[in-house]
Amino acid sequence: MPQIAAPDLADPRFKADPHPFYARLRTEAPVFRAALPDKREAWLVTRYDDVAALLKDGRFAKDPRNAVAHGRRPKTPWLPPGFGPLSRNMLDLDDPDHARLRMLVHKAFTPRLVEGLRGRIQALADGLLDAPLRAGRSELVADYALPLPATVIAELLGVPSEDQRRFHRWSRRTVAVASGRDALRAAPALWAYMRYLRGLFAQRRAEPRDDLITALVRAEEAGDRLDRDELVAMGVLLLTAGHETTVNLIAGGALALLEHPEQLDRLRREPDLIERAVEELLRHTSPVEMATERYARDDVEFAGATIPRGALVLGVLASANRDERRFESPDGLDLGREPNRHLALGRGPHFCLGAPLARLEAQIAIGTLVRRAPDLRLAVPPGALRWRRGLFLRGLEDLPLAC
Ligand code: HEM
Repeated sequence: MPQIAAPDLADPRFKADPHPFYARLRTEAPVFRAALPDKREAWLVTRYDDVAALLKDGRFAKDPRNAVAHGRRPKTPWLPPGFGPLSRNMLDLDDPDHARLRMLVHKAFTPRLVEGLRGRIQALADGLLDAPLRAGRSELVADYALPLPATVIAELLGVPSEDQRRFHRWSRRTVAVASGRDALRAAPALWAYMRYLRGLFAQRRAEPRDDLITALVRAEEAGDRLDRDELVAMGVLLLTAGHETTVNLIAGGALALLEHPEQLDRLRREPDLIERAVEELLRHTSPVEMATERYARDDVEFAGATIPRGALVLGVLASANRDERRFESPDGLDLGREPNRHLALGRGPHFCLGAPLARLEAQIAIGTLVRRAPDLRLAVPPGALRWRRGLFLRGLEDLPLAC
């Protein structure tokens, strides 16, 4: 394996432009052993075909308990005591537990049901843009990209609107965890998040409503379909995954359009392009930079490497989506690109449950922004933009705009 120095993959300076590093790995070391910020070792998979195969490959487990090597479980990120229940979420489990948990909620996220939210999402987008447009400036993340998906997922679950700021604060801390020290720092937030959700479940048990939390509580009460730990883990996963990703697509997508003014003009001239445009923005920005952990169940021959049993493997979606073997001019932005079989929403059994919702939110958010703000531009030099710390997600801290 060639000697390539791995940067700190969670560092905001790396997040600003990780693509040259991934391009080098695709050419020189398509399966690359790297040290993660939390000192674990991971095998990074960077080519499109390999990442697509990895996400569907049953030889890799999501649940570390299914990849025990020499009597020892793979190392998982350190979590303070008491947070074990959080690992009982569908994304960190294998079938049959994964399928059982996914079944309980998948109906709420089908394209047909999600389409019913169109009017509400449009009203939210319009309402959030009014004040920034009057003021002629916006910090797009705080004004628009964040509150839109956070409100939608909170309303779907049944989290009262006055609590939305709090749950975002907690989930923000949670997704920034990339090392043991981060976990320690995030512990109070995580603890508050879990306690809050337990309280909400108790309320709905006493006073059922027409929301997803009530439906989940009913499933728990029905007996063997969902236990209490799984209930909390589901709440944290849906609330967090439901907005921490889409915020990055909306803000990162707006930035990508500003960086490619000819494509922005094209979308203004051809608003019907919005569905394809969002697919291209998904590919280009890859808001989930890496798929989450997978562990080799056995010694596995994969893409020319022998990955030992118990090893941690990460498919780099942001790299697969820029693979020159798969996409023409992969670093360019072409809003009409077709076909566009990107991996931004994953592949295989853990394919994004919220994909129809994420797509609709982004189509409305970006379509509305482009239509209502004809004079949109960056209010700071591009080099001054700040990126968030974290391994799996890639997103802007803030996006100051003039409009
Ligand atoms: C632009 C926005 C989004 C992106 C880029 C995104 C991306 C992804 C990706 C890549 C995965 C698979 C991870 C893996 O295999 O390791 C995933 C899974 C998941 N996503 Fe999303 N997501 C987005 C929005 C949402 C929304 C709005 C929800 C709403 C609830 C959601 C809920 C989930 C859940 C529950 C899973 C786990 C599915 C499973 O394990 O079966 N996501 N997402």
